[in-house]
Amino acid sequence: MREQTSEWTEDTVGLVPTMGALHAGHRSLVERARAGNTKVVVSIFVNPLQFGAGEDLARYPRPIEEDLEMLRELRVDAVYMPRVSDMYPEGATTRVVVGAVAEPLEGASRPGHFEGVATVVTKLFWAVRPDRAYFGQKDAQQVAVVKRLAADLDTGIEIVVCPTVREPDGLAVSSRNVYLSPEERRQAASLSRALRAATSAYAGGERDPAVLEALIRNVIEGEPLARIDYVKAVDPGNFTSPGSLATVAVRFGGTRLIDNHDLAQPWPG
Ligand code: PAJ
Repeated sequence: MREQTSEWTEDTVGLVPTMGALHAGHRSLVERARAGNTKVVVSIFVNPLQFGAGEDLARYPRPIEEDLEMLRELRVDAVYMPRVSDMYPEGATTRVVVGAVAEPLEGASRPGHFEGVATVVTKLFWAVRPDRAYFGQKDAQQVAVVKRLAADLDTGIEIVVCPTVREPDGLAVSSRNVYLSPEERRQAASLSRALRAATSAYAGGERDPAVLEALIRNVIEGEPLARIDYVKAVDPGNFTSPGSLATVAVRFGGTRLIDNHDLAQPWPG
């Protein structure tokens, strides 16, 4: 990969890191990268380091032929698909620890997750050496973690954040949505419905995070199969102090879904 990009001296290079099972959300990132750079690299790597024990590493979908078909159609210049043994050969022990922004919410619910994300993203940055890298607002805390590491490690890489792509009923598109039963899938629309209701309340003048969180909880708890992991309105800068970024994590059976919206922004569409 490094040899390939080092030949692209007259180009700007955009990198879209993914774990594959590509969908409309990934597609929007690739299209954005395509529009802003002369070369586009998409990485596909199901990163074992960011999955906890008991998470879905083994059953994570890997439809590689379909993924490559989509990427051909989108005219990407290179697909980087390292093996686990390429990424983490015997004896590789270095980890990237980002600090405070990685600790609450997803960091607390999924110990080691952001260390795994930060380590693999740093390695992808070194392999591809892009000018820009593209991430989805769907994973808002991941965006904050990646921005922090890109700045702190003097990468010079511009982090471009792309809006969350949603299904017609509002559910954020995700590779994990395929795990949902039809009834769970129906009830999963409550996450975006709750965020949307909180956006209206915020626009109507409600600013108390506790009130906004309660409103979101009430909508989601109206669905019998939903098990809330957290609902938190936080400062999008630090993910710790209270603020306008409403973040939710909810389990439906064995499937854990996340979503978020900055309540200070209008609901799209
Ligand atoms: P993955 O879940 O495959 O997501 C790859 C990128 O697509 C992430 O930046 C994610 O935020 C974005 N994305 C996913 N669903 C989206 C949606 N509905 N709308 C917009 N963007 C969406 O996130 C990862 O992989 C990994 O943690 C990775 C960064 C590749 C490191 O392993």
